[in-house]
Amino acid sequence: MRFTPVFFVAVALASNIQWQPCAEPDFRNSTFSCASLPVPLDYTVEDSETIDLQLLKVSAKTNTNRSIILNFGGPGEPDRANLAQLASYLLVATGGSHDLITFDTRGTYNTLPFSCYGNDTLARAVAAATTPTFGRASNTALGAQWAGGKLFAETCYARNNLTGSMIGTAFIARDVMRIVDALGEDGLRYWGFSYGTLLGATIAAMFPDRMDRVVLDGVVNPFEYYHGYDIEKYTDTDKVFSGFVSSCVAANCALAKNQSAAELEKSLYDFLEHLKFNPVVLASTVIDYSLASSAILSLLYSPGAWPSLATGIHGVMTGNATEVSDLTAVLGARSNPLLNEYLAGIQCSDKAPRASELSDILPFVDDLYQKSRFSDIQTQVFSWCANWKFSAKERYAGDFQVKTRSPILLIGNTYDPVTPLVSALNVSHGFQGSVVLEHGGYGTSMAQPSACTIAHIQSFFDNATLPTPSSVCEPSVPLFGSSLSDVGEG
Ligand SMILES: *[C@@H]1O[C@H](CO)[C@@H](O)[C@H](O)[C@H]1NC(C)=O
Ligand SMILES: *[C@@H]1O[C@H](CO)[C@@H](O)[C@H](O)[C@H]1NC(C)=O
Ligand SMILES: *[C@@H]1O[C@H](CO)[C@@H](O)[C@H](O)[C@H]1NC(C)=O
Ligand SMILES: *[C@@H]1O[C@H](CO)[C@@H](O)[C@H](O)[C@H]1NC(C)=O
Ligand SMILES: *[C@@H]1O[C@H](CO)[C@@H](O)[C@H](O)[C@H]1NC(C)=O
Ligand SMILES: *[C@@H]1O[C@H](CO)[C@@H](O)[C@H](O)[C@H]1NC(C)=O
Ligand SMILES: *[C@@H]1O[C@H](CO)[C@@H](O)[C@H](O)[C@H]1NC(C)=O
Ligand SMILES: *[C@@H]1O[C@H](CO)[C@@H](O)[C@H](O)[C@H]1NC(C)=O
Repeated sequence: MRFTPVFFVAVALASNIQWQPCAEPDFRNSTFSCASLPVPLDYTVEDSETIDLQLLKVSAKTNTNRSIILNFGGPGEPDRANLAQLASYLLVATGGSHDLITFDTRGTYNTLPFSCYGNDTLARAVAAATTPTFGRASNTALGAQWAGGKLFAETCYARNNLTGSMIGTAFIARDVMRIVDALGEDGLRYWGFSYGTLLGATIAAMFPDRMDRVVLDGVVNPFEYYHGYDIEKYTDTDKVFSGFVSSCVAANCALAKNQSAAELEKSLYDFLEHLKFNPVVLASTVIDYSLASSAILSLLYSPGAWPSLATGIHGVMTGNATEVSDLTAVLGARSNPLLNEYLAGIQCSDKAPRASELSDILPFVDDLYQKSRFSDIQTQVFSWCANWKFSAKERYAGDFQVKTRSPILLIGNTYDPVTPLVSALNVSHGFQGSVVLEHGGYGTSMAQPSACTIAHIQSFFDNATLPTPSSVCEPSVPLFGSSLSDVGEG
């Protein structure tokens, strides 16, 4: 369906934002402040009712009255909590002369949260406990997922038919520009990770003349995101797993024993196959192929957690619950039962393709399976979105071929499990003058930081200096050593 939006331009810039000490205990810090900013619920109608964006600001060390807006991915990552947690690192990484601002995007947490289960926490807990399933878990898994996806889509629709079309990325992009207007700054400074790059690319394509300094870090392919099935994201996943295995062997980790990296890798893939038919019961949990694969995949983003991953896999292989407990703690700390609803609410309404039969998506499933041993986690999202009953009221419909006022900086990691370098190169092709900085690490640029990458980010924000094309930065933190963080998963 073609939809011709009519956009009503704000008559005057919003009044200045009233920053105050934050009320929420998690954000109590003398350098943090909070504000709420009203924006239209529906940008396509005149006199729309408004919603309040909840903003969090970390004050610059030296005040220059310049801000950087951040988004940490998902969609549906708790952006304010992530900023609060990473504030010290991000102030250093951005040079300390910009305020850092974020907000939980519409559709999440306190702002129009997209909810398929309402306040039925039991239904949500059951849904969370029965996910994830992977497409290759068995030869009946896809059919079960397809039916489950239909039910999920229907449940979400029945519970939520007002907000379902109001939380797409184009509206979120307009929200970001409302913040820039309210700040009274003359252009957008932005650092987005993962889904935050899809948001950033959308903002840059919709408002090219207002782009000042935009960094897209761990880039999503926006063509696939809006018009297809996400397959390219798994391009380098197996390479990252090989990196986990070889660094595990080099560090003589719990799994290494006497094996070469190639032997260990084969034995781990064999073990995952074995789990399909022989799930393990440990510490009151059934550990099956899907759970084990998802644990591995979710920690491939986080080299800092690789020692726990190695010990945990060893525990599953040998039936040692003590060894699994550390891994369970790491995974438990990240589990977020709300994330599936937020992610589906935003991403599925952004996506154009729908399908009426499982067989319609099988060609995409085949392509997906070619990409990685772990890519079958994505078939569940295929089933949700193909059955989705909402469409975002506005979608960016252009081709991402644009000239921004200032060129943008893209960062792609050499070893990235879900936002491969090839996607950064793809986006760069469309944005005139943009440059791709290759970060030679695992995870994201924050997961295995590099002094060189940080220096480039600082000079970009402070002086608009772009790296020379084809620059590569090596990480400063070793594998199986410590790392800073692991936010921004999708
Ligand atoms: C920042 O803005 C405030 C209020 O407009 C002004 O008083 C101050 O001089 C500005 N600081 C800088 C460094 O421009
Ligand atoms: C407050 O945030 C700053 C970073 O802006 C951090 O260095 C400091 O440790 C935090 N203080 C507390 C008490 O958490
Ligand atoms: C759940 O929501 C319904 C309808 O909004 C309300 O009547 C009920 O009290 C809520 N239950 C809980 C436990 O909050
Ligand atoms: C949307 O939800 C409301 C309240 O639950 C319901 O009355 C209405 O029929 C729904 N509309 C559609 C199109 O499903
Ligand atoms: C190490 O590997 C060699 C060759 O595969 C084998 O002969 C030896 O028994 C192994 N040692 C241990 C401790 O497993
Ligand atoms: C289980 O793992 C712990 C920690 O590595 C170790 O101390 C313990 O001996 C192991 N238990 C058995 C039965 O192997
Ligand atoms: C970017 O990715 C899309 C979707 O995979 C593809 O159709 C397009 O050809 C790519 N563009 C470039 C320049 O690689
Ligand atoms: C920005 O440029 C100034 C002037 O050339 C220089 O002194 C400063 O080191 C640069 N900042 C960064 C972060 O490179």
